[in-house]
Amino acid sequence: MLDDHGYPSGFFDRADTGDDAAFYGPERLVTHIDEGAIAAVGVLYAELGIGGRVLDLMSSWVSHFTTAPDDLVVLGMNEGELAANPQAASSVVHDLNQDPSLPFADADFDAAVCCVSVDYLVRPVDVFRDVARVLRPGAPFVVTYSNRCFPTKVIRAWLATDDAGRAAIVRSYFERSGGFTEPVSELRTPLDARGDPLWAVWATTTG
Ligand SMILES: C[S@@+](CC[C@H](N)C(=O)[O-])C[C@H]1O[C@@H](n2cnc3c(N)ncnc32)[C@H](O)[C@@H]1O
Repeated sequence: MLDDHGYPSGFFDRADTGDDAAFYGPERLVTHIDEGAIAAVGVLYAELGIGGRVLDLMSSWVSHFTTAPDDLVVLGMNEGELAANPQAASSVVHDLNQDPSLPFADADFDAAVCCVSVDYLVRPVDVFRDVARVLRPGAPFVVTYSNRCFPTKVIRAWLATDDAGRAAIVRSYFERSGGFTEPVSELRTPLDARGDPLWAVWATTTG
C-alpha cells in the first residue's frame, strides 16, 4: 500500500506519536553536531553563496552561517531557542507536522536551509513543495544531516536505512515535490574524519 506520494505504509511512522509541541517545549540551548560538522555546514552555505533573505527551516538558537545573511528568518518549534539565535532577524514558531504549509508569500526568499532536522518530518513532500513556493525561481534549498537524532521523533524509514538510503530519501523529497532541479548529494566531511559526518542534499527551484 503506497501513500499519495508513493511511499510505503509505515514509512513516516514514529515511536513517539505525541504532540511535537510537547517534545520541543523545553529549551535545548545545545549543539546537535560537533564543531567539524558545524564548520562543514557553514563552508557549504558560503560555497553556495547562501545570502539575502534566507529561511532556516526547523531552526534553533544556531544557524551555522560563517557570515549572517542580511535577513535571516528562523522557523522552528521553540520560541526561546529561536529568540536566542544571534543571526536571526525574525522568528516564527510553526509545527510543520501539523501544517506543512509555510506562513510566507510566494517567492519571498532567496534561499532556504534545513540543518539536521529533515528526519523529523512526517509530510516532507508537502513541506518541500511549499519551500519551492516561497523561494524565488532559481533559489537553492540546502538540506544537511548527520547520524545523530532524537530517535523517538525520527521517521521509521530513516532509522531503518544507511547513509546511502538517507541520501536517497532526501533526494526523493526534492524529486517528488516537483518544484526543484535534480538534487546534488555529497558527504561534506572527510571520509576518514573521526567526528560527526555531515551529508548535504541540495537543489534549486525551477520555474
Ligand atoms: C536536532 S534540532 C536541529 C536544530 C537546528 N537546525 C540546528 O542545526 O541545530 C531539530 C529541530 O527541528 C525542529 N522541529 C522538530 N519538529 C518540528 C516540526 N514538527 N515543525 C517545525 N520544526 C520542527 C525543532 O524545533 C528543533 O529545533
